Amino acid sequence: MFLEKLEITGGNRLCGEISVCGAKNAAVAIIPAALLVEGVCRIENVPDIKDVQLILQMLTHLGAKVEKLDVNTIEIDSTSLKTHVAAYDMASRMRASYYLLGALLGRLGKAEVALPGGCNFGQRPINLHEKGFRAIGAKVTTIRGQVIATAEELHGNSIYLDTASVGATINIMLAAVLAKGRTVIENAAKEPHVVDVANFLNTMGANVRGAGTDIIRINGVEKMHGGAYSIIPDQIEAGTFMLAAAAAGGDVLVKNVIPRHMESICSKLEEMGVEITEYDDSIRVRRDGAIHGVRVKTRYYPGFPTDMQPQMAALLSTAEGESTITEDVWDNRFQYIGELQRLGADIRVEGRSAIINGGRLYGAPVRATDLRAGAAMIIAGLAAEGKTIINDPHYIDRGYSNIEVRLRSIGAKIERIYEV
Ligand code: EPU
Repeated sequence: MFLEKLEITGGNRLCGEISVCGAKNAAVAIIPAALLVEGVCRIENVPDIKDVQLILQMLTHLGAKVEKLDVNTIEIDSTSLKTHVAAYDMASRMRASYYLLGALLGRLGKAEVALPGGCNFGQRPINLHEKGFRAIGAKVTTIRGQVIATAEELHGNSIYLDTASVGATINIMLAAVLAKGRTVIENAAKEPHVVDVANFLNTMGANVRGAGTDIIRINGVEKMHGGAYSIIPDQIEAGTFMLAAAAAGGDVLVKNVIPRHMESICSKLEEMGVEITEYDDSIRVRRDGAIHGVRVKTRYYPGFPTDMQPQMAALLSTAEGESTITEDVWDNRFQYIGELQRLGADIRVEGRSAIINGGRLYGAPVRATDLRAGAAMIIAGLAAEGKTIINDPHYIDRGYSNIEVRLRSIGAKIERIYEV
């Protein structure tokens, strides 16, 4: 039995070009969305990450035919499904398994999926997903850890989301695209991956309007058809590489990005003193001198993304002066701070805020406590003096493909090591 770890030798400037993969949180919704389609969906720019492998296995278990054409292209044929019950072992291991509920309910009128797992940062209820399903005619119960949704007929309705939840917005879209009549989601999430899922559904014959605004209108269609779709670049992966370049210093061109999705991140980096140049589909990040502390508050899109919060804390731990990060989306997303402190970061948590006094970081053994916390450890390790060992890198592999190979291509000293 080997223990995998990432070993980073910090203090090297990063230089060169790095390309961003397809968006994880779009992929883990679009793949289940293919269950709604009687026909072949060809999906391109699929990131080669653990969460995608897991959701594809779940589709195969349900009877969909999944074919991998190359490392980033798949075909899914859900014409004949054999069950509406998702495998517990897989569903309970990831958050996005909740999309199987909306997709199976929409396609078959019934779905059984274990309560979802995924990164643990406070309560992660699915009451708004359930509220939406009920509003369009489903009965939803939870029995022994299984969420069971059934409907004789799904019909359009208006749903107001008390919180602009990404998951609930997407799940209600999935359940409603084949329902009778019009469904309206008010206070919908506006994240880029919500728009991407809507575009995928429309390419396959659905009629979804308004994604990217507060109000999404879904006109139910009788049937959807196959087609080809390419997933958008990952906003969070792009942001992670940009912050890595800012933390280590250097000159990096981050390619295959949609600059509009990166505005909140670019503007914070510029405020810190990092030089940013935007091109059509790439962003250049240059840092030579010192960077200064800033105030950051996570918000729903187009605000600063919560999924960049730990990486930003790592970067700000190296900035001059005091910074404050306020987490507005999740109740408890500061568990990783103890790990940054092992590297010498001066951070204290007060309620929903972390107050950071920037300084030098020194390599040490740390742990990836979840996916983005793991990304934060990489950023801190690249900036730290000496060697950092990151334990539990499997969390990082859930959302970043071949992270060490890609970072090495821009000059990072990072290796995957295997200890007995
Ligand atoms: N919420 C409710 N009720 C619900 C659903 C959500 O109260 O039924 C609350 C949550 O407790 C939270 C807020 O609404 O306070 C936002 O939750 P949201 O539903 O938007 O989050 P999610 O869909 O579970 C997705 C991403 C997360 C990302 C959040 C916020 C996926 C698979 N996950 O989660 O991504 O943090 O949106 O942008 O899309 C990550 O990629 O590392 C990650 C955790």
